[in-house]
Amino acid sequence: MKNIVILISGRGSNMEAIVRTFNQEKWDARLSAVISNRADAAGLGFAGKAGIPTRVVSHKDYPDRESYDAVLQKTIDEYQPDLLILAGFMRILTTGFVEHYTGRMINIHPSLLPSFRGLHTHQQAIDAGVRVHGATVHFVTPELDGGPIIAQAIVPVFPDDNEDKLADRVLEQEHRIYPRVVRLIVEDRISLNEDGSVNLSPEVVDSLSF
Ligand code: GAR
Repeated sequence: MKNIVILISGRGSNMEAIVRTFNQEKWDARLSAVISNRADAAGLGFAGKAGIPTRVVSHKDYPDRESYDAVLQKTIDEYQPDLLILAGFMRILTTGFVEHYTGRMINIHPSLLPSFRGLHTHQQAIDAGVRVHGATVHFVTPELDGGPIIAQAIVPVFPDDNEDKLADRVLEQEHRIYPRVVRLIVEDRISLNEDGSVNLSPEVVDSLSF
């Protein structure tokens, strides 16, 4: 049975979508912990009520990224995770931390990567005048928002969109694709190859573009 650890920083709606789907579909996995870098992350309340152990490792308690990531890694590894899920975890991670979880760490990013890395992705999309936008689930590598792509979902961009409207439309899709990908990893249908490419079971290929 795979151990899953989820990292959040705030609202935690993607974490919530994963937990709800896990409970509905009864995956052969254990939701071992939800860990936040902020004590006031709203998602911690939902996770606690769902019976998942929660932890806070505050970045404010550490002088630099290296010392923070070392403690975070130690905390995560208490749960021996097979899969580490970044769900709105708003921290830039050190290379050492990322490499420790190679092939075991995934992220969701609110844009169609490789377009619009970083923050304010919805405003970036509006400013660029694109007609489609979306979300991407990818394996995490040291390059920020640059890891191998697993799944993507597309939404239209309308002329009267603002950042909030577009964010809501994308978030709805995030909640569809992230639980789907997690389930397929739990089922060993998706993995990361040694050469950095994504290994997909043939039967799932069609289900990863939304
Ligand atoms: C989501 O839209 C997620 O894609 C984004 O933060 C939001 C978190 O929402 N993540 C990033 O921007 C990562 N660079 P949530 O806390 O409700 O899941």
